[in-house]
Amino acid sequence: MKYFEFYSPVKICSGENAICNIKHELEYFGASKPLVLSDAGLEKVGTLKNVLKILNKNKVDVSRVFYNIPTDSSTLTINEIVKLYNTLGADSIIALGGGSVIDTAKGVKLVLSQLKEDILSLEGNEILPKGKDVPFIVIPTTCGTGSECTSVAVIKNNDTHVKMEYISPALLPNVAVLDPEVISTLPPKLVATTSLDALTHAIEAYSCLQRNTVSSGFAVSAINLISENLFLALNHPKKQEYKLNLLNASTLAGMAFSNSMVGIVHAIGHALGAYRVPHGNAMAILLPHCLKFNQNVLADVYAEMLLAFKGPEVYVNTPETERAKLFISEIEQFVKMASSTTGFSLKLSEYGVSEIDLPAIANIAINDGAAAINPKLFTRENIVAILKECM
Ligand SMILES: [Fe+2]
Repeated sequence: MKYFEFYSPVKICSGENAICNIKHELEYFGASKPLVLSDAGLEKVGTLKNVLKILNKNKVDVSRVFYNIPTDSSTLTINEIVKLYNTLGADSIIALGGGSVIDTAKGVKLVLSQLKEDILSLEGNEILPKGKDVPFIVIPTTCGTGSECTSVAVIKNNDTHVKMEYISPALLPNVAVLDPEVISTLPPKLVATTSLDALTHAIEAYSCLQRNTVSSGFAVSAINLISENLFLALNHPKKQEYKLNLLNASTLAGMAFSNSMVGIVHAIGHALGAYRVPHGNAMAILLPHCLKFNQNVLADVYAEMLLAFKGPEVYVNTPETERAKLFISEIEQFVKMASSTTGFSLKLSEYGVSEIDLPAIANIAINDGAAAINPKLFTRENIVAILKECM
């Protein structure tokens, strides 16, 4: 029997008006002066203002709002926020945003809890003591990263321009607030691509070498929720229940992959990030091709996932030997439909990637941490072949 650990201490407050619970959550931690972190995009579309209004109505005394967080969370921004937090005498963090805001907030929390001033001083320290309590609440505004429940933060070094990966349980928030109101302004294209990112987290968490019984349970629930709710959410944008289901799925998938890992789709997708292909789009493009690549070693696992993705009727009516194949073709159709419904391209060439870039992308991907966890070994040539199919 294989040994595994599963750690997910984040309290989840999920549902309509979940933001109203924040006052109570802060009180539980003895905190009353939160610093709110967000970004200019959310300020522009009014999401930040709406959340601040709700916090104000619920008598949460916000010390300051910092929304100058760049698209790539950076060491300079983190250190600047740490200084601000200490100057203001704030006693907790509320992060409202997507991957970059949440990763920035995780970096801030890490520095504060370790009583440091510079995030770079903690680089490479995966085994850190728990440190000082810094109450940390996250309100995700996409349905994809699952970052509110993962022990990872990707932070760009402003000096070297390298994206550094910090991995530590000390990065985990205390509370994730899943409120569909905050994604009401999320454009359909982003609802689709971020949900396909979450779907990829769940599929890779369920099939990678470090999968375990508990993470697989969370992954299956996420696959099922995304399959059932993505197009309902896109076709009925005013109905909050479908978006809430996607938010729940994203968090479940985050809990799953934070405790197992991902695989080839993310290894190549991370490399494409350096070529400015947005992460969710990269996942959508790569997923069907990578499923086909892994098929000969993962046929049984894909057959199991057909049940989660298409339900019992399709599963029992499909011959055992056809289930894996059907799962892949259903995923392919799902991705194509998301692309045609919301208008994003499934061709890498349309994101500015050209054939001459492919060997360099393969070089980055083969050295990505997720590559070693993929159940099937692969070479640079395999990656180039997959990328060619995506052009
Ligand atoms: Fe991802």
